Amino acid sequence: MEQAAASIASLLQNARHVTALTGAGISTAAGIPDFRGPNGLYTTGAYDAERVFDCRYFAKHPELLSAFSRDLLRMVSALQPCFTHRFLAALERSGYDVIVVTQNIDPLHQLAGSRCVYPVHGSYAEAYCVRCHNRWPTAEYANMLERADVPVCACGGVIRPDIVMFGEAVKYMPEAQAAVSDSDMLLVLGTSLTVYPAAALPSLAQGPVILVNKGPTGYYPKPDDICVDAYLDPLFRQVAVQMGLDVPD
Ligand code: OAD
Repeated sequence: MEQAAASIASLLQNARHVTALTGAGISTAAGIPDFRGPNGLYTTGAYDAERVFDCRYFAKHPELLSAFSRDLLRMVSALQPCFTHRFLAALERSGYDVIVVTQNIDPLHQLAGSRCVYPVHGSYAEAYCVRCHNRWPTAEYANMLERADVPVCACGGVIRPDIVMFGEAVKYMPEAQAAVSDSDMLLVLGTSLTVYPAAALPSLAQGPVILVNKGPTGYYPKPDDICVDAYLDPLFRQVAVQMGLDVPD
């Protein structure tokens, strides 16, 4: 792992414009399960994940996504960003241009201090009414979920989080594509790279791709790429030391 950390540090030291494409694996150390890892939502069956995020199922049974959202929002209020979230924010503070493209619906990148975050699968930052499109911040939506199985707007429409479900268009794709193709290097962190179109983003990278993921991914590396099968936080702690980068708690 030390060798991998040294190689990543050295590539980062020669870059200025860095894009990070992140997935659920960057947040597992905070206690949020991923989807396809050993404790993932699809693996353990804790939720019927195929249905929770299916827009056709939601149209008929909104209570399933509401129950998932209630559990997630109760948990998220107590969560802290992991080391790797904080590493990316510290890299930005130290003078790098850092753009984060995340498939995650949690707010941990923003909480860590990253300023340019494109949540391509949406986020829980806001909820909206499916009928009149009125919007509410997440704290109000969390309160609604504590009072009703399925929050309903004054107009009668169901209120849902602003996340992307299967069958819906992803968000910020032009911005994400530009970020990947314009950066000196792409970090791909904690994602199985199996869900498109996000999984196709690394193919747009002009510079080296550094992929760190515990377990297999759908990525086919180019000769200059570095792929490391490792947990993120211990590895990026070493990268920070190698770079002399201060990453506050
Ligand atoms: P996955 O669960 O598919 O992949 C997460 C990867 O991170 C797995 O390979 C894990 O083994 C790995 N992993 C877990 N903890 C790690 C750690 N601490 N360090 C390094 N690797 C770790 O999650 P995503 O690729 O993010 O979409 O999934 C993509 C999309 O599939 C999600 O955004 C979601 C889901 O369906 C929607 O909801 C639209």
